[in-house]
Amino acid sequence: MFRRVHNLRPRCFATANVSARRLASTKTLKETLQEVIPAKQEQFKNIKAKHSQTVVGDVKVENIIGGMRGLKAMLWEASVLDPYEGIRFHGLSIPDCQKQLPAAPGGKEIIAESMLWLLLTGKVPTEAETRQLSRELAEKGDLPAYIEHLIDSLPTSLHPMTQLSMGVAALNHDSVFQAQYEKGMKKSEYWEYTLEDCINLIARLPALAARIYRNVYRSGSDLPAINKDLDLVGNYSNMLGYGANHDLTEYLRLYISIHGDHEGGNASAHTAHLVNSTLSDPYISYSAALCALAGPLHGLANQEVLRWQLAMQKELGDNITHENIKDYLWKTLKSGQVVPGYGHGVLRKSDPRFIALQEFCDTRPDLLQSPTIQMVKKTFEVAPGVLMEHGKTKNPWPNVDATSGCVLYHYGLTEFKYYTVIFGVSRALGALTQLVWARALGLPLERPKSISMDVLEKLITTSQNP
Ligand SMILES: CC(C)(COP(=O)(O)OP(=O)(O)OC[C@H]1O[C@@H](n2cnc3c(N)ncnc32)[C@H](O)[C@@H]1OP(=O)(O)O)[C@@H](O)C(=O)NCCC(=O)NCCS
Repeated sequence: MFRRVHNLRPRCFATANVSARRLASTKTLKETLQEVIPAKQEQFKNIKAKHSQTVVGDVKVENIIGGMRGLKAMLWEASVLDPYEGIRFHGLSIPDCQKQLPAAPGGKEIIAESMLWLLLTGKVPTEAETRQLSRELAEKGDLPAYIEHLIDSLPTSLHPMTQLSMGVAALNHDSVFQAQYEKGMKKSEYWEYTLEDCINLIARLPALAARIYRNVYRSGSDLPAINKDLDLVGNYSNMLGYGANHDLTEYLRLYISIHGDHEGGNASAHTAHLVNSTLSDPYISYSAALCALAGPLHGLANQEVLRWQLAMQKELGDNITHENIKDYLWKTLKSGQVVPGYGHGVLRKSDPRFIALQEFCDTRPDLLQSPTIQMVKKTFEVAPGVLMEHGKTKNPWPNVDATSGCVLYHYGLTEFKYYTVIFGVSRALGALTQLVWARALGLPLERPKSISMDVLEKLITTSQNP
């Protein structure tokens, strides 16, 4: 089970300054942030000074015993999730982003760099800014040799998410935030070093994630070198071994961009935020977030959907009718399982990310012919009705995972245990950019008050008999 891979790639221990290189007359990400931060700091200072005691909501017992659902108790600048409309990134819906954010040269889909720029600065980047960021990420993308050795020493039977989390945690060896903290940096500088760590981590994630894939599923075959002229996901696809498949690369670009952020309260983003609030560096904060993402109710759902769809396909054979899918749905529910890919903690309508991925499928004849994709469509036509009749879930509509893994499967990326790793590469965009804002705004250590059931009952009694 343990294996070694000969390291043929360059070593890189140095952490160059963020945005050290620039195209002529193009603002860097850091310069853009330096421009937008003061106004946000002023807004925050104003809210804190004038409204700290203003009541903006109630805490109900259901919030306390129900996983804090619906409790508005966290600041998150990058995106806001409306239960019916879905996600907006700094006010832009997914279709807005598809119209406005730059794509890769020769591509049509949003790329990670343009989404990263938007999430971090609230501004739509120009083509030149996007290309400059792509180059910066490519230049910083090589893994240090010690990380390669660490990953290569792991048993291939270890879940890819565990490997990813370990690799990300170990990258903190190079954390500039931690190094500067030890030197006694000023609080006002926290965000700058957080930014540097976050950019370095985002840059290195594709090589780390691809190395895990190659080790686990491709006998440790060598990865191609990072192409400095390619975008982050273009390089990721190349390193995975799928670079020649333009459609898959485009799909990965779209999926990774629109899946990058989904408010702050989801388990992975919230974990990164919580851990980083202790001033742990971004690497170990995001490593913890990946552990949250690895749960079946969160990031593992895409692999669960595919497992479920394939089992249904096997059982139904050629009889893929609405009636048979309905029966299979009921069988799943009656055996006490959830229908994977349906329901959501906040959404109460079909997830616009699901819709965007379906629209992608609609433009590709081969995807329209795929039995797995056809099954996703047919399931969508009956599952909401069955779930409504079942009457438990507050949201009978599909979420992004109802389709995400099935498209990867069609394109030959069939190792579904790996799908959450791709999600992990994506979620870094939102979770990490918001660490920069948390430090820029000086958000404190997160520390909610917990209570016992006895205390809760006393509070209930007092509230009923004031
Ligand atoms: C996403 C999810 C975890 C949200 O959970 P939640 O916020 O507790 O959802 P609800 O408030 O609607 O849950 C109420 C009840 O409906 C059930 N329910 C929710 N989604 C369901 C589904 N897809 N199939 C069957 N039952 C479901 C819950 O298990 C819960 O049952 P309980 O009262 O016996 O505990 C849940 O919908 C789920 O498990 N979905 C399937 C997994 C999935 O697709 N995850 C990816 C999310 S992006």
